Amino acid sequence: MSLKKILITGASSGFGKIAAQTLALNGYIVFATMRNIKGSNAQYANELELWAKDNRVELRVLELDVTSDESIASAKENVLNSTNGSIDVVINNAGIFSGGLIESFTIDDYKKIYEVNVFGAVRVANAFLPVLRQQKAGLLIQVSSVLGRVVIPFGGVYDSSKFALEAISESLYYELKPLGVDVSIIEPGPFSTELIQKVLQPSNQVVATEYGVTAKLMGSYYENYTQQMQDPNLPNKPQDVADHILKLVETPNGKRPLRVVVDKVTGGVAEVINETASKVQESILRDFGLSELIINVEN
Ligand SMILES: NC(=O)c1ccc[n+]([C@@H]2O[C@H](COP(=O)([O-])OP(=O)(O)OC[C@H]3O[C@@H](n4cnc5c(N)ncnc54)[C@H](OP(=O)(O)O)[C@@H]3O)[C@@H](O)[C@H]2O)c1
Repeated sequence: MSLKKILITGASSGFGKIAAQTLALNGYIVFATMRNIKGSNAQYANELELWAKDNRVELRVLELDVTSDESIASAKENVLNSTNGSIDVVINNAGIFSGGLIESFTIDDYKKIYEVNVFGAVRVANAFLPVLRQQKAGLLIQVSSVLGRVVIPFGGVYDSSKFALEAISESLYYELKPLGVDVSIIEPGPFSTELIQKVLQPSNQVVATEYGVTAKLMGSYYENYTQQMQDPNLPNKPQDVADHILKLVETPNGKRPLRVVVDKVTGGVAEVINETASKVQESILRDFGLSELIINVEN
């Protein structure tokens, strides 16, 4: 086990919580971060700390709100003070979901979603990458989505935030590879977590009343989608995502894939896009005189 110390965001529920537990059970030192550990997440923070004690694993719960530079700086100070200044893996997992007609989202709605899904991930990366670069080793895992590669109507704003995360992460991948730091993107499909219960609704609800047949389609789409997400037989289990995160952490530096699709339901489509896109990327990098980066890229 070469990369030992791991920080993950959004560990109060869903993938973040299970991944934190899975990594800790496998012997890693985990900083399981969440926002509002003294408020709305107090119960989850206490439960996770108790769980760590009961299981005798090295997991510490820390406050980290990805929308706040101060909160990230304070978490970083806390982590580095207790690790002699090092951190090996940073996992940008925190995210929020939104659904609705594109026209019904105000700019403030977009800002709320991007603050977490895009700028939040960038803030955390910018805070910790200097440490990884200095170490000349490390791993940044970005939790994106199959919806960061394909577009489903009525989910366009969320999708756009994950598309943005994908572009930023792929660019980081090329830029950091020669410096010994890996970037991997996890692309989960539909999983039953708490994401759907915390969905950000668009502010302009009037628009939907003017969308006739499209609004009807959206209604039936979300009804089916909600049912699918609540189906106990859904083949996608959140533990799958945690297991893939563990696998990435345990893969040697420089050998990690850029993208990992985790989806037994719709994953095939993202894999086709990823395979095609990686060929296109190789060719475009060559065209722009950046072949050196291709040589360094091992997929
Ligand atoms: N579930 C799926 O089907 C699915 C599919 C593809 C991708 N994903 C992605 O997977 C990631 C994890 O989602 P999940 O499905 O596990 O849902 P989840 O259970 O709702 O977890 C999301 C986590 O993000 C946290 N979060 C939200 N805003 C935050 C902020 N400002 N600062 C810090 N943490 C914040 C939440 O904390 P609070 O409890 O405080 O809100 C929660 O811990 C997300 O990036 C999501 O987009 C999920």
